[in-house]
Amino acid sequence: MARKALNIGMVGYGFMGRAHSNAYRKVNNFFDLDYVPVLRAVAARNKKKAEAFAYSWGYESVETDWRDLVKRNDIDAIDICTPNDLHAEIAIAAAKAGKMVLCEKPLARTAKEALPMVKAVEKAKVPNLVWYNYRRIPAVSFIQQIVASGKLGKIFHYRSKFLQDWTISPDVPQGGAGTWRLDVEAAGSGVTGDLLAHCIDGAIWINGSIDSLTAMTETFIKKRKHADTGKMQAVGIDDASAVLTRFKNGSLGMFEASRYARGHKALYAFEINGEHGSLGWDLHDLNRVAWFDHTQPSNMRGWTSILVTDGDHPYLGKWWVPGLTIGYEHSFIHTVADFLEGLSTGEKVGPTFRDAYETALVCDAIIESGKTGKWKKVAGK
Ligand SMILES: NC(=O)c1ccc[n+]([C@@H]2O[C@H](COP(=O)([O-])OP(=O)(O)OC[C@H]3O[C@@H](n4cnc5c(N)ncnc54)[C@H](O)[C@@H]3O)[C@@H](O)[C@H]2O)c1
Repeated sequence: MARKALNIGMVGYGFMGRAHSNAYRKVNNFFDLDYVPVLRAVAARNKKKAEAFAYSWGYESVETDWRDLVKRNDIDAIDICTPNDLHAEIAIAAAKAGKMVLCEKPLARTAKEALPMVKAVEKAKVPNLVWYNYRRIPAVSFIQQIVASGKLGKIFHYRSKFLQDWTISPDVPQGGAGTWRLDVEAAGSGVTGDLLAHCIDGAIWINGSIDSLTAMTETFIKKRKHADTGKMQAVGIDDASAVLTRFKNGSLGMFEASRYARGHKALYAFEINGEHGSLGWDLHDLNRVAWFDHTQPSNMRGWTSILVTDGDHPYLGKWWVPGLTIGYEHSFIHTVADFLEGLSTGEKVGPTFRDAYETALVCDAIIESGKTGKWKKVAGK
């Protein structure tokens, strides 16, 4: 059976450019799908580097201006893998040109910047998706299914953190390749949009909308050299954020993100406590779910560790045999698989731009509450 081509045009070839390209190349080897991604072109400003990337990953051609990519008739979907300040302009232009849009997270620098993107893809009626990839780590998908089944009963607590330690030195510059995340102009916010946004997306998906919150944010290093100007400039990003939330379902949330947690490289972890049990997960042991089942007889109760590798766990039937683990990159392959499946069924695959806009509203409320110290009602999406 011939598959239908989904012609991909990717913008940016950094960390996510590689993660997505790998996913496009692998997906049809493991998933039975009507569509096959075809790597038509990659757009980046440096032609030589773009050509080297195209050669490594099998892209047919390169463009040095993303606008030329968006204009091309042989492209069906634009995949945005650039720093955050470019997401809005590219996504809106792509939607206006009738292209599907897959955009890296956070959707934009602020919710205000994100809203026209949501409107553009909805007006153009084009399939759209934001790469909150952690949803599709099988253990995380499994937790979402357990909570949705009602097995935990009433949820009381959702606590989540994302910790790193790579910006503690005052010598790390802001701006430029590799350190654009420290420049508020490029990133929009600091750890809130970069790291905590993953925790918020997961929380909303698993536990529903956040009603209100209060946050503490801090910028530990106030001035850094800017890689573009060479001058010491005020730092506009949040280096750490700590947030208390009330969910619409009545449960309480606690969230924390930092790039100053010495010893932690990418510790994304969360725990949920419900009436009948608790669930926990962390990225450093990503194939396992911690599970406490209070419905067991009292003398048999205890935390158990479920190895999520069986054929009846989410996505695992497509991979190896029970007991054999998969990794970080598979979350991107699963994202592409679901997106392609959605094209066949016509069903929306989340998180859509509208879903990611809700996360952006929460992130904006965190930044504002961090400044004012006041509780904030989260605006409706
Ligand atoms: N889903 C995740 O877990 C995850 C992880 C990392 C990054 N991200 C997101 O992915 C996006 C990219 O991050 P990254 O880590 O890949 O960054 P990166 O710095 O590794 O790559 C960014 C790429 O964008 C390119 N670029 C910059 N300006 C451009 C322009 N005008 N035209 C074309 N290309 C341009 C750069 O040359 C580079 O290739 C960000 O929005 C980030 O928040 C998501």
